[in-house]
Amino acid sequence: MKTEILKIENITEDLPLIEKAGRVLREGGLAAIPTETVYGLAANALDPAAVKKIFEAKGRPSDNPLIVHVADKDGAARLFAGTDERFEALAQKFWPGPLTVVMKKSELVPDITSGGLDTVAVRCPSHPVANAIIKAAGVPIAAPSANTSGKPSPTTAQHVADDMSGKIDLIVDGGKCEIGVESTVITLATEPPRLLRPGKVTPEELKEFLPDLVVDSAVFSELKSGETAHSPGMKYKHYSPEAEVVLLRGSLENAVNYTNKYGNAESVAVCFNGEKEKFAVPAVEYGVENDGLSLASNLFYVLRKVDDLGFSRAFVRCPAPVGLGLAVYNRLLRSAAFHVVDVDKRLPVIGLTGPTGAGKSTVAKYFAEKGFYLIDGDILAREAVKNREVLANLAKEFGADIINEDGSLNRRLTADRAFSTPEKTKALNAITHPAITALTYIEITHADRSDSKGVVIDAAALLQSPIVNMCDMLVCVIAPKEERVRRIVERDGITVDQALTRINAQKSEEYYIENTDYAISNAKGEDFHPMADEIIAQALK
Ligand code: TXA
Ligand code: MG
Repeated sequence: MKTEILKIENITEDLPLIEKAGRVLREGGLAAIPTETVYGLAANALDPAAVKKIFEAKGRPSDNPLIVHVADKDGAARLFAGTDERFEALAQKFWPGPLTVVMKKSELVPDITSGGLDTVAVRCPSHPVANAIIKAAGVPIAAPSANTSGKPSPTTAQHVADDMSGKIDLIVDGGKCEIGVESTVITLATEPPRLLRPGKVTPEELKEFLPDLVVDSAVFSELKSGETAHSPGMKYKHYSPEAEVVLLRGSLENAVNYTNKYGNAESVAVCFNGEKEKFAVPAVEYGVENDGLSLASNLFYVLRKVDDLGFSRAFVRCPAPVGLGLAVYNRLLRSAAFHVVDVDKRLPVIGLTGPTGAGKSTVAKYFAEKGFYLIDGDILAREAVKNREVLANLAKEFGADIINEDGSLNRRLTADRAFSTPEKTKALNAITHPAITALTYIEITHADRSDSKGVVIDAAALLQSPIVNMCDMLVCVIAPKEERVRRIVERDGITVDQALTRINAQKSEEYYIENTDYAISNAKGEDFHPMADEIIAQALK
């Protein structure tokens, strides 16, 4: 299907275009139309076949109901089963505008439009083009946001074209949407009435008309399994760019430190106006910190931009959840799949390293006993080489025969080849370290969400890897050489000569001491616990 684009410059002069859009809708077609919130993907709400096409074009789950758009309050009356004084008062005050009201539906509304529910969501948009098109169509218009399901909502005709070209009949280009986030959704079908989705019309404004209004728990948190959603739309992962979004709650300074620490070449910071220069990674600004409208109107635009620029992770400054900021916060929570980092309260991260045989793992275990979340570098290294891209790159570097028949890595053969020269070792690290670093970051975020006191990363090659930048404190574990030889021989069943070759190929003890903040001696007959306790006390300060 070829998607036609109609650009509306002036509503009176472009009346024929408005009438054309109205005709397409009346005849069962799909047209994307601008509204004051976001672009909507419109169809005749009373025509099940037309509505079905909306679900198909968006890839939307069929139990997620649509909002029906009307030209005025009278247009809404016949969609509801009865009247409600509260609705009358709300419509009087907020319509036309970004408020959607859910009430029991009338027979007129097909089940497909209401996602099988016995209620219907109705709103009357204030955008003059939307309003004119609804009037021209002469039928109520079902219109979810005109994005592919799960993606950020579209705030320009170009966004719509990016997602919907070839799938719908028309795109009506009415310029950039002013508000930028979807309408406030409330339901009067529950007792007490609930705010299901925050938007431009705030709970404070609504309380004047609905003193007993409660904010649905889904606005702030993930639905627990088994819970039923009052607003089906809130249970899906939503508003997400391809890039992973990490929401940073807390001060600018700590957000900058966090981003600089965990960001890499593929990361971008999404920050408030005037903050860009502070970040070491590229940054895009999305609005004035305490101006909800400014943030809302750019939010989806910027989330889409992150993908256009090819970034794979976005660290986003979190707005205060007040006024329209509440709506921005609610959308960001979902774009981040609820991955929020409290940068002001982050767990201290201790990097633990040292030469082979010094007893690093014993010390790491002690930190774990003291309430630290243990990240084992060896386990992550083994995990990392299961990654297909890593495997392919290793095969390219060290020969196709390092891959076993079952697709796994022949670790022994790889080690033989990779540790044969310093250059080869470097090549190995260049391939595996990014993957191990990514896994380490994921582990740290798990720890941040656990009730651990801190994080300890046990990694032999820590100082040569980018993980070193994620640590707040570096600690090495050392022991006399004879002691280490004896341990390796016992542990790995090798000869003294073999143990010495291994030890001599590694960095010296001095190297570890020089490049870390603390050294713990784990020699035989010495008690390492007092030093470890002192380090823990320092880290928790
Ligand atoms: O600003 C807007 O509301 C935009 C523009 C295009 O008007 N539309 C929009 O529609 O955001 P959509 O489909 O993307 O979001 C509709 C939301 C979903 O979260 C859905 O679950 C909820 O409204 N909803 C619709 N009908 C409902 C009902 N009967 N009961 C509870 N929630 C309902
Ligand atoms: Mg939507």
